Amino acid sequence: MGICIKSIGMYVPDNVITNKDLESKINTSDEWITTRTGIKQRYIADKESLYDMAIKAGKMAMEKANMDEVDIIIVATLSPETLFPSTACVVQEHIKARFAFDISAACSGFLYGLDIAKVYLESSNANSVLLIGTEKLSSLLDWSDRSTCVLFGDGAGAAVITKGEGDILSSVMFSDGKYKDILYAKRCDYLKMNGKEVFKHAVRNMESACKIALEKANLTPEDISLVIPHQANIRIINTLTERLNLDPSKVYVNVNKYANTSAASIPIAMYEAFEKGILKRKDKILLTAMGGGFTWGAAVLEF
Ligand code: ACO
Repeated sequence: MGICIKSIGMYVPDNVITNKDLESKINTSDEWITTRTGIKQRYIADKESLYDMAIKAGKMAMEKANMDEVDIIIVATLSPETLFPSTACVVQEHIKARFAFDISAACSGFLYGLDIAKVYLESSNANSVLLIGTEKLSSLLDWSDRSTCVLFGDGAGAAVITKGEGDILSSVMFSDGKYKDILYAKRCDYLKMNGKEVFKHAVRNMESACKIALEKANLTPEDISLVIPHQANIRIINTLTERLNLDPSKVYVNVNKYANTSAASIPIAMYEAFEKGILKRKDKILLTAMGGGFTWGAAVLEF
């Protein structure tokens, strides 16, 4: 028996901010944002908390799995509302679980969480994990800094992971603290980033992680039905697609609609792709992400 992503859920706030909306607030343009990033709009939480989004996405995944409790809740976030308790413990008040904890791996958080879930399911008495990626990045943004505020959005995605049909065929995670000053947010301060450096490392690191994950799974890009990369920037995704020699029609893109939602980006994309019938059961898929730390990784799944 393998590891099964039994269900997926997501939530984004009601409030949509388009590039045109930003034009009236800061010195930017729809043309600049679109050509540099592929982003057209983002969802920004004005009334929802980080917890609301996590709970809504988590409950949707639980309902779709037809479950009302899990053994473990893992929450990946870089924008927690409190240092403690963990966001996962707050979620646990609403979704029954034996224990709950957060992980901090920035935009790679969902992939790290998947890796941790696999270890628990394979080597402990846990039978189910609710993994949530949730972000209220708008709370970390300096809305007068055009080089960062246009890039990010809010939202949450969740997956119920159990033993069952399907499998995580390979999963490789990396980090390098040498780059901690290139992308970070200090306590009570805004997110800071050297965009050009992040871009370079994102392409390079995701490319190498994908190659290693494919090799470990004994597969080539041709065997993969769908690639779901972290949605940060269309130019990062396109460069990665070229370097890995992937068929662009097999690479899922929704950065235009949500912008970069960090740990929520992969589960939101998985949810959409599954709902649209683009992601199907038994498909072999490749997930990859890179984020502050730096952290990065890739996983090959039989969905
Ligand atoms: N609107 C208009 N002009 C802008 C904006 C804006 N929103 N932001 C910056 N500019 C200006 C700059 O001030 C600069 O002007 P100057 O030449 O007069 O100094 C000019 O545009 C060019 O800026 P560059 O930094 O050279 O633009 P670049 O092509 O590198 O694109 C970007 C910037 C989009 C941030 C790019 O570097 C990038 O996407 N990097 C990756 C960042 C990322 O994805 N981070 C997410 C977190 S990590 C992850 O998820 C992988």
